[in-house]
Amino acid sequence: MSIGSNFFDELRNRITLSEVISRRIKITRAGREYKACCPFHNEKTPSFTINDDKQFYHCFGCGAHGDVIKFVTEHDNIGFMDAVEMLAAEAGMKIPQQSPKAVQQAKQENNLYDLLEEATILMEQCLNDPRNFDAMSYLLDRGINREIIKQFRIGFAPEDGQYIRKALLQKGYSDKDMIKAGLLRPMAQGGEPYAFFRDRIIFPVPDRRGRIVAYGGRILPEHMRPPQRGDFVPPKYINSSETPLFHKGRMLYGEPTARRAAAEGRDIILVEGYLDVIACAQAGIKGVLAPMGTAVTEEQIISMWQMIPSESKIPILCFDGDNAGRKAAIRVCNRILPLLEPGKSVNFAFMPDGEDPDSLIKSIGVSGFREVIKKSIPLFDFLWNTYTQGKDINTPDMKASIKKQLEHEISRISDKDVQNFYRSDLRVRVSKIFYPKRYYGYNTGGGKKTGQISIKPQMPKIKKSQKQHLVSKILLCTIINHPHIFDSIEEVLLNMVIKDKKMDSLRQNIVSFLCDYNDANREKLIDHLEKKGFSQEIRDICNESVYVHASFCSPSADKGNILGMWLEYWNDCNNAGLEEEIQNGWKRAYFDSNEKEEEKLKSLLSMKSRGE
Ligand code: UTP
Ligand code: MN
Repeated sequence: MSIGSNFFDELRNRITLSEVISRRIKITRAGREYKACCPFHNEKTPSFTINDDKQFYHCFGCGAHGDVIKFVTEHDNIGFMDAVEMLAAEAGMKIPQQSPKAVQQAKQENNLYDLLEEATILMEQCLNDPRNFDAMSYLLDRGINREIIKQFRIGFAPEDGQYIRKALLQKGYSDKDMIKAGLLRPMAQGGEPYAFFRDRIIFPVPDRRGRIVAYGGRILPEHMRPPQRGDFVPPKYINSSETPLFHKGRMLYGEPTARRAAAEGRDIILVEGYLDVIACAQAGIKGVLAPMGTAVTEEQIISMWQMIPSESKIPILCFDGDNAGRKAAIRVCNRILPLLEPGKSVNFAFMPDGEDPDSLIKSIGVSGFREVIKKSIPLFDFLWNTYTQGKDINTPDMKASIKKQLEHEISRISDKDVQNFYRSDLRVRVSKIFYPKRYYGYNTGGGKKTGQISIKPQMPKIKKSQKQHLVSKILLCTIINHPHIFDSIEEVLLNMVIKDKKMDSLRQNIVSFLCDYNDANREKLIDHLEKKGFSQEIRDICNESVYVHASFCSPSADKGNILGMWLEYWNDCNNAGLEEEIQNGWKRAYFDSNEKEEEKLKSLLSMKSRGE
């Protein structure tokens, strides 16, 4: 049997739309309908209407429209079947199941959900019991307010390992199910099973639909708990182990709230601990999640991407600023690289040393944490920093080594498009550190460094434009004869100023051919360029009259040195250009002359020098 339209009709009939909506946003009655500020777009005056008779909502502002199922999927940011199951449970309806086995399994699971719900209520009551005031006062002293305690359903598991068990047995639940749900530990040799969590503050873990599926339990500070026996040091936190309902590596603490926040367009932020999620929520930062005592998994990353409805899915991962935090970040980065896809990535944020989001918010306020989030860096920058920070980048060996390591990391990205963009960004970065002059030299116009550049007394003997032409010939000739250097110089080549139109077009053709064919060699490239109509240019460029100026561009040059020589040559010429510019600027400043005047000046000067 499948779910038919009868089922949905019945579901809509049993549920009152306005009730479901009023539990999520504030609504007010307006005649036969209800009105509210639309949760799907930003507005100050209500244009969102709810009609219980017609069983739909409609927004006159943004056109949002639908029935109760659509509202819940969009508002809670959950899947269709998740919404249907949630609403069916509210309406007391059973979803028709595919097979008797599935029915049986669903029944068992439902029973476990109910069991954990009851246990959660019990532990919430325990926290409010005056006998456990220590636990409550610990939370209040830490600055967690009662509203948040309620919202996160924080509880307390009493020291008595039979308390929860007895209460639930009375309600008709079995030991077997309590063990299955992770509430009880079985006792060896037929003893009574006893509570997994004892004398701990309890953080119930909701699944994406808000059903409690697991717990984290924090120990009370030493002065609040009974003295320990022997020298066993209990762990600060213990977490439910895997159960049919709880998959540690897939779930995240804070999910239902974070999903709603993501649907509202807020940042998704991953932190380390339960209390960080809670402190952030109390400070008004809603999209915050945490893994539960384990490192972030691939599934958790993917789950965060799925929560974000926009095209750009970039959750922010928050790490400690210390060494351990950095190492953890590197491990996560390694895990994420192969998963990257267009629009899907992560940013990295680092906490000040010794702080976590909870302590930071407490010490300097939420603005301090927002600042950390604002300073988060893209994955590419994190990779770059990881391999370059603190490294000596002044030797060619180090440069090459850094480049190689980064290339290796990038090669692990499986999406080809993303990989290519990472590669080209890497080239830009690499040329920045290889050729600082190119990137920073022109900034010297402002003054400070100008003094460091010596203005040669003598201008090159050949005319400037001729020299420039020769320079571009040499640089292009080298690439034609040695296409293997292209990968390392692509960015430089693209940004080179080539005034001659035909040469510029030749450059474009070289670049696009070499970008397309990784295995191109000299012969293939020349063949291609000739077909594109550059035969004459190739004859002009690739001949001895050019090779005499720069031996590395000749086809017989030693392959190992070419890249270095090319770069050095390019760098030198670039500096020469810079010097000329400065000289020109200097001249203009003094003479404010146009070219004619300059010619006149020159001839005057030369006449003078000839003594006429
Ligand atoms: P922390 O030790 O940083 O704790 O562990 P915390 O969240 O800041 O808690 P407070 O502020 O000391 O109360 C971070 C997270 O690592 C997991 C928990 O999920 C915790 O929230 N953890 C930590 C464990 O699972 N077991 C442990 O023994 C310690
Ligand atoms: Mn903490």
